[in-house]
Amino acid sequence: CGIVGYVGHRQAQDVVIEGLRRLEYRGYDSAGIALVADGALATQKRAGKLANLEKAIADHPLPASDIGIGHTRWATHGAPNDVNAHPHTGGSRRVALVHNGIIENFAELRARIEADDHVMLSETDTEVAAQLLELQVESGIDLATAMLRVVRQLEGAFTLVAVDADDPTRVVAARRNSPLVVGIGEGENFLGSDVAAFIEHTREAMELDQDQVVTITPEGVSVLNFDGTPAEGRRYHVDWDLSAAEKDGHDWFMRKEIHEQPRAVADSLLGRRTAEGHLHLDEMRLSDQELRDVDKIIIIAAGTSFYAGMVAKYAIEHWCRIPVEVELSSEFRYRDPILDYSTLVVAISQSGETADTLQAIRHARTQRSKVLAICNTNGSTIPRESDAVIYTHAGPEIGVASTKGFLTQLVACYLLALYLAQVKGTRYGDEIDQVMAQLEEMPAHIQRVLDDAPAIYEMAREHVDTRSVLFLGRHAGYPVALEGALKLKELAYIHAEGFAAGELKHGPIALVEAGLPVLCVVPPAGRDQLRDKMVSGIQEVRARGARTICLVEDGDDAITPYADRIVRLPRVPVLLQPLVAVVPLQLFACELATEMGHDVDQPRNLAKSVTVE
Ligand code: G6P
Repeated sequence: CGIVGYVGHRQAQDVVIEGLRRLEYRGYDSAGIALVADGALATQKRAGKLANLEKAIADHPLPASDIGIGHTRWATHGAPNDVNAHPHTGGSRRVALVHNGIIENFAELRARIEADDHVMLSETDTEVAAQLLELQVESGIDLATAMLRVVRQLEGAFTLVAVDADDPTRVVAARRNSPLVVGIGEGENFLGSDVAAFIEHTREAMELDQDQVVTITPEGVSVLNFDGTPAEGRRYHVDWDLSAAEKDGHDWFMRKEIHEQPRAVADSLLGRRTAEGHLHLDEMRLSDQELRDVDKIIIIAAGTSFYAGMVAKYAIEHWCRIPVEVELSSEFRYRDPILDYSTLVVAISQSGETADTLQAIRHARTQRSKVLAICNTNGSTIPRESDAVIYTHAGPEIGVASTKGFLTQLVACYLLALYLAQVKGTRYGDEIDQVMAQLEEMPAHIQRVLDDAPAIYEMAREHVDTRSVLFLGRHAGYPVALEGALKLKELAYIHAEGFAAGELKHGPIALVEAGLPVLCVVPPAGRDQLRDKMVSGIQEVRARGARTICLVEDGDDAITPYADRIVRLPRVPVLLQPLVAVVPLQLFACELATEMGHDVDQPRNLAKSVTVE
């Protein structure tokens, strides 16, 4: 969900709606706003996208106000309808509240409230918090104290943001295991799930710790721990501006982000080598000795980030000879994994807020393992709770389906692998230099693939009636196949599956029938055995009527007789091939979904950062 709060000198409605627009990628099942005007709450909320809310406000204008809160929802409790949309209010409509997360003991709290004859309007856990908060302020205490009393009764993960109709000078928020940042302005202050909410007004931000309550007024910001003791937030400057959060002439954020990949990869490589030629990682807060002691690595991640982790396994094991496991973060802590102080857990998360991954790193740390985060979002929770971080420099990623986030994660994984090889001495400096030089050439290679976009688009448009697509890959091409299939599922809602090409004959080949499109990521010819096995796989599916679309490196013509369509890739080493091979698959999914009339930036049922387990 996306959350916004504002108090200051502007029209709060404009600030809140604009903030919600920039946060809509976090959830778009419903949207709502609450303002305080003339000692009363003015609220409006609607199921569906923000546009529905805007229309409702146009039909029933809200009063002028300089204080307000807003919410865009990714539904957890209760269907995504008007009633369940946030904000929620207490029974006497004095307090309005928005919420991100899940209040786990809500059934018990709800029963307690209803036993006192208070009527609940919605099915949400949020209304419970709103009712409790209102009962507290009605007992005569201020909103911040009331919030402290309420949060002590709640279990689960939540960000709560509230206003009180009787006090138009402050917005009060609380956070536990769910994102919230403060934007610091002059004569105004902001709250948001992330800085995109207020980047248009200020680039000065403040991050909060877990279990804190924050009050913003036009003049200032004050922070309290849940036990009531005063605290200080950490201030920081946001190093990107509004232009990064705009579409820049593209029809979709996603398309813009795909085209930004050469720059994103270049930025993620910048400044990683010292004058002496050593690899240097800024926030690698683990000592060389700690890294030498590592005898096992477990990579945890979700979604697209998980596939970056699969590539990382291949790179780390090859260059560093350390055993690596890759695991979905949602599975990790529930299966009693074997961890100790010599295990390095690497958490990959674009947003830095994915609840599954966050809980997994917490579990790892209780087992004394060191945690290294690969993350794109400064100030987010996962890097803050990790022992070390490699930040990717993709800039804000707004399209819900990850693209430049993925490529820059791959870069960070290669850097980590090379860094470990340097520290452990498993590779000589010359070889590390050589790979770094190859990495530095990648932005130009990616650009070349992008220059061929029109041909991919044409191919995508031929597939609008397709109901199923298979993706095959081997070695580092296998995660690429999985990612290509995921992109198609996410954006085009087409059944798509990625397989390790060698596994095909053990079952999935039964799916092949006449006309089925099969996208094949062919390994570079330098790895002949691998390439040849892939060619056999392509022949096998083609013999059964599949239409093969083959991603093949320049100069490799052996595939031509078996390919219905060929997509050319620049010649790069096999381990680095995902950086170029995934790009045509992103373009394919983006264009196909566009052609089918889907919302590419906000696919149905999805959200960009899933802050519930
Ligand atoms: C969500 C998004 C995916 C993303 C996954 C992991 O499900 O829709 O695109 O890959 O979360 O996100 P993270 O921010 O942890 O990389």
